[in-house]
Amino acid sequence: MNYHNTASIRAKGIVRTLSQQEELPLLRDHLLRLDRTSRHDRFHGFMDDNFIERYAEKCANDGTVIIAYIEDGVVRGAAELHPPEQSPDALPEIAFSVESSARRKGVGSILFRKLIAEACAKGYRSLRITTGAQNEAMRALANKFGAHLTFRYGESTGNIDLAKQNQPEVASSAMTTTIEAARAITSFNRAYWGMLMRMYGLGRTA
Ligand SMILES: CC(C)(COP(=O)(O)OP(=O)(O)OC[C@H]1O[C@@H](n2cnc3c(N)ncnc32)[C@H](O)[C@@H]1OP(=O)(O)O)[C@@H](O)C(=O)NCCC(=O)NCCS
Repeated sequence: MNYHNTASIRAKGIVRTLSQQEELPLLRDHLLRLDRTSRHDRFHGFMDDNFIERYAEKCANDGTVIIAYIEDGVVRGAAELHPPEQSPDALPEIAFSVESSARRKGVGSILFRKLIAEACAKGYRSLRITTGAQNEAMRALANKFGAHLTFRYGESTGNIDLAKQNQPEVASSAMTTTIEAARAITSFNRAYWGMLMRMYGLGRTA
């Protein structure tokens, strides 16, 4: 499932789903390249390398779908679709990360769009995204896709109703798509923080 970005003038890479086991190092290395602020935003304050390595390994083994933005064989952005079983209320959680060098070029938007297509293909009806209350970039991205974020305990949380999304790729998931074409809708998620906490043995209830 390769989505070649053939027409964008803002980003030059491709977007495709990573194979869970074999391409784990590509995801891990991408997450490890995130700077401190990005790690804080992405992992809710957990920033050390060991945590990120364990997190990437967990994603490779628990059914998480990773949609990656790749430039010259290097993953510069990723969207994560976590299986509903990971969430206490069975809502699939989603998360995004784009390296600084690739930001503000529509990469997050195309990853979001592809993630929604993937979620629709799986039959999911709703997604959840969570981020820090101060994360303006993620809030802007989420708002594009219709997530209504609410504040709670320093976080912004929003649900995405997939029935309201217009996803032509669902019918033809291999169609060519450009970054620009993807800049249309957005939203966020929240529930994997509980999973992150459990990885650290903190057991917080989301
Ligand atoms: C959030 C993130 C994924 C956005 O990626 P991106 O590739 O820059 O996103 P896009 O270029 O598609 O931009 C999406 C929208 O958000 C807006 N936006 C992006 N960064 C912004 C910022 N810092 N402040 C305000 N708006 C911002 C863009 O203008 C765009 O809106 P537009 O289409 O109306 O112009 C990226 O900043 C990131 O990885 N941050 C660190 C990790 C993180 O916070 N993850 C979220 C936790 S799930």
